[in-house]
Amino acid sequence: MSTILILIPRWHPQVWHQAFVKRSINHEIRLWPDQAGDLNDIEYVCAWHPPPGVLRMLPRLKAIFSMGAGVEHLLADETLPNVPILRMTDPELTCRMTEYVTMNVLSYHRRRSLYDFQQRNRIWKPESEHRTSDVTVGMMGLGVLGLHSADMLRQFNFNVVGWSLTPKQLSFQTYHGTDGLPRFLAGTDILVCLLPLTSATRGILNLSVFRQLSRNGPLGGAYLINAGRGKLQIEADVVQALSEGSLDGAAMDVFEQEPLPSSSPLWAHPKVTITPHVAAGLPTEALVDIVLSKIEQIETTGIVSDEVDRKRGY
Ligand code: NAP
Ligand code: GLV
Repeated sequence: MSTILILIPRWHPQVWHQAFVKRSINHEIRLWPDQAGDLNDIEYVCAWHPPPGVLRMLPRLKAIFSMGAGVEHLLADETLPNVPILRMTDPELTCRMTEYVTMNVLSYHRRRSLYDFQQRNRIWKPESEHRTSDVTVGMMGLGVLGLHSADMLRQFNFNVVGWSLTPKQLSFQTYHGTDGLPRFLAGTDILVCLLPLTSATRGILNLSVFRQLSRNGPLGGAYLINAGRGKLQIEADVVQALSEGSLDGAAMDVFEQEPLPSSSPLWAHPKVTITPHVAAGLPTEALVDIVLSKIEQIETTGIVSDEVDRKRGY
């Protein structure tokens, strides 16, 4: 029996608390802040944007679970105790992200928003056709999520290229590091961003990057899909790139500030598709089960999988 603290002030803590209680007969579930009890008991924490300083108040902590794949919300706490940080990785979560990426790549490739517009205006006007193999999708981030999405897009016969921090030997063209970025961008028609937010990637989706994208593809423009993190993008630059034509459209799941303020010009932009940070969303119960099975693994085998490299920041 372990004692688990739920520390997710930005979500609906009671819903999560109930889901944990219902599914974990073997554990004692505590809820921050009112039902945390004696902090000396806490062995595991399930956290999403925890208030800085709270985690260091738990002397018997064995591990911290990020309730998402990203961990920048934890690493931002300078007082974080030195215990393993585990991030959310799971085949179902990965598939959800691949659905999101594939849906948006296909929507742009099949001119979904143009035909929606034409339907609303009773216009019958077929556009010229092109093949998936004529379109290059540039995958920024070749980790768990990027690689899975890349594989799916390649099954549709899209030409996929990738970019990561370290060199890769894959069955498609890849680039790495700052030196490899310009060549990666120059051939990319649809830029998919599945990077983590780190000091090196913050603001990487900026005007200079958008201007380097290919505009010679069959769709006549470049398209951005960002499901990584909002602070990877400079939103004013996205708007500028859309108005000057260096971007022909964008699908955005994540934003510099969430919820996206109602004053943001992105909301009403005809070339922007917005979702409220749900690209790889799963039901609460599914996420609870993932955490519980990881705790079970640690308790029975001592093996900690999906541990974050703090130095790298992801
Ligand atoms: P991951 O397995 O850790 O992969 C990260 C990838 O990014 C790696 O390929 C890494 O390169 C690359 N990378 C990191 N820093 C880089 C840099 N400075 N330059 C170039 N490449 C860099 O992460 P993941 O599981 O695929 O998840 C990626 C991100 O998606 C998460 O961090 C999270 O922010 C976001 N996410 C969003 C949602 C959502 O619902 N919107 C859901 C889940 C995750 P190397 O391979 O060389 O290390
Ligand atoms: C969601 O954004 C995640 O990091 O899993």
